[in-house]
Amino acid sequence: MSKLINCLINKDFSCKPVWFMRQAGRYLPEFRKIRQKNQNFIKLCLDKDLSSEITLQPIKRFNLDAAIIFSDILIVPFALNQSVNFKSLNGPRLARFDIEKFMRVKKADFLKTLDPVYQAISKTRKNLSKEKSLICFVGSPWTLLTYMLNIDKANFISSNLDKSLKNQDQNKVLEKLIEFLKAHIEQQTKAGADIVQIFDSWAGLLDLRSLHRFCFIPNKELVSFCREKNIPTICFPKGIKTNYKKFVDFVKPNGISIDYDLDPEWAQSNLGNICIQGGMNPSVLLENEKIALKETERYLKIFKDKPYIFNLGHGILPNTNPTIIKKIVEKIRAI
Ligand code: CP3
Repeated sequence: MSKLINCLINKDFSCKPVWFMRQAGRYLPEFRKIRQKNQNFIKLCLDKDLSSEITLQPIKRFNLDAAIIFSDILIVPFALNQSVNFKSLNGPRLARFDIEKFMRVKKADFLKTLDPVYQAISKTRKNLSKEKSLICFVGSPWTLLTYMLNIDKANFISSNLDKSLKNQDQNKVLEKLIEFLKAHIEQQTKAGADIVQIFDSWAGLLDLRSLHRFCFIPNKELVSFCREKNIPTICFPKGIKTNYKKFVDFVKPNGISIDYDLDPEWAQSNLGNICIQGGMNPSVLLENEKIALKETERYLKIFKDKPYIFNLGHGILPNTNPTIIKKIVEKIRAI
């Protein structure tokens, strides 16, 4: 059994497994080398050999307990016939959302487009030792929608959502996304992934009423599906502050990834005996080594009597020095 599963499912708190969101990425020179030769990011995600190679890069460098398949949440809208462009400096840009085009995509075609992801997963699994997990992931429907509808995140107001997508179309789109995300999760686990992480990176934009409809309910549907299929889940509803408690009680995932805005002591005392993951601010890794290691110790101490997976409160920043990751892993191994 992998160390992450032992922590997530058996709630064994004697060991603290570690991995990092965005552990394969631009802070690694070996990733930048491949990326430079592959300008089309979606095409790179759909290259099974390169995707598998990139997935294993941080595993080779650091003694991590899990690999996360190199892909992107936006591969799903791409496979739903909406083109995606990563060249813009303001983050990824998607072509204008066309509901008819979206509704027309059949599941078999969607899964066929994503087949290289499944092949990359089986190839990667063969090169990973048994005690290491292979994590697959999806973006939650809401976070996908923020990109699909090109929502202006800096000026978003929940009540204005109807301007982006007519109210009667919202349910249709949500339902189709949920159905197709379930299929994508199932195929990824059939190919050899043993945990799924559901990223709701933009949950923090929603007011309480919309949070229930666009975040809690879709996350719960995905988690319940996974539970039926015995697939362990970790949810990351970033930015929802103390609504993390409501989320955990309602959605009931196996693990909950906390962001750097949430007080870890509050999480420790309010989220029950669920396995907690992450929390530390990624910008701490840009400070000197002493500060980063001290903060690592603080998180380990707070969660010492809990099932806890060490990670950050969001992804590793591109200007992070890889050496600090190595030092943090060494610190965790030494406890
Ligand atoms: O964690 C990993 O190492 C696995 C790979 C992974 C990527 N994206 C690769 C990537 C994962 C798990 C993601 C998830 C993802 N993608 C999320 C959820 C997590 C989060 O960060 O909130 C979101 C919102 C996206 C959408 C996305 N993809 C954005 C906003 C961007 C551009 C900004 C950025 O952070 O780089 C991407 C591009 C992207 N996805 C890169 C990588 C390595 C950088 C691509 C490049 O080299 O230009």
